[in-house]
Amino acid sequence: MIKSIFATTKEPFNRQDLKPMSQQKHIIDIIDIIKIHAGQGGFSVIIGEPGVGKSVLREHIESWENERDTTVISFSRTMHTYLTILKQLALSFRLYVPTKNIEQELINTAFKHVQQRKTLYILIDDAHLLTMEVLRKLRLLFERFPKKHNLVLFCEPDLLHYLTLNVNQDIRSRITFSQTIKPLNNDDLERYIVKELEAVKMGINTFDVGAIEVIIRAASGNLRLCRNLCYASLIEACREAKKIVTITHVNQVLMQPHWRSHDELLKQQVKS
Ligand SMILES: Nc1ncnc2c1ncn2[C@@H]1O[C@H](COP(=O)(O)OP(=O)(O)OP(=O)(O)O)[C@@H](O)[C@H]1O
Ligand SMILES: [Mg+2]
Repeated sequence: MIKSIFATTKEPFNRQDLKPMSQQKHIIDIIDIIKIHAGQGGFSVIIGEPGVGKSVLREHIESWENERDTTVISFSRTMHTYLTILKQLALSFRLYVPTKNIEQELINTAFKHVQQRKTLYILIDDAHLLTMEVLRKLRLLFERFPKKHNLVLFCEPDLLHYLTLNVNQDIRSRITFSQTIKPLNNDDLERYIVKELEAVKMGINTFDVGAIEVIIRAASGNLRLCRNLCYASLIEACREAKKIVTITHVNQVLMQPHWRSHDELLKQQVKS
């Protein structure tokens, strides 16, 4: 629908190959530091609220796999139990061994990779879903790995709270680098919207000033919310065969129950 109304070949806010954005300079720094720490056995923690771009950063690091001197193993759809992680590691190394030998064989294979001058990156997305017990076992395992690796955890701020507990000092003291991905500010969000429109050759005034203002306020720094709100508002405009998204279209989306705040929903229940 969007493509036919706006006569474009691609939809905005719906791209696959996302790269770190120029306005997220700290992400470029994170990438550099992750590479440096991989020289000495890194243990990195990248923290961010939902929707700020952690998984997009993970996907970017995954693309290093195409470089000759790099092996990237990424976990994003495991149930985060220790054995499933080990099995997935083994699968990525094309290692078919009985479960009882799996740890030792993984370590041997990791040494073989490093002998071939490869650096290993092990990425775990949504690492706040890991229990501390699993994290502790992983920490012990990677301590026996060759030094040229970086274990990178992408997590929500919750994980930090657990790490600050005294009983988890052993894990916390081994972290070599941690960084928070900050939510985008209003100007950055506006630049993001413009860039998405430009990428598909749509006019930068497709959203009028009022619409942009409301979108940015509702998104409050969260890229996913911003993307979803822009896309849904665009659909509302297209349903009316309009080529300009106005505040009315945005508000039509914001009326949907999942956009309402907890307080608003409670008030509504009391009234009815
Ligand atoms: N660099 C980027 N360029 C364009 N869009 C982006 C970028 N980073 C994030 N986004 C948009 O924001 C959405 C959310 O990003 P992402 O899934 O990486 O967040 P997250 O921090 O992993 O969230 P969660 O904690 O909920 O998993 C993406 O689907 C994409 O639409
Ligand atoms: Mg994610």
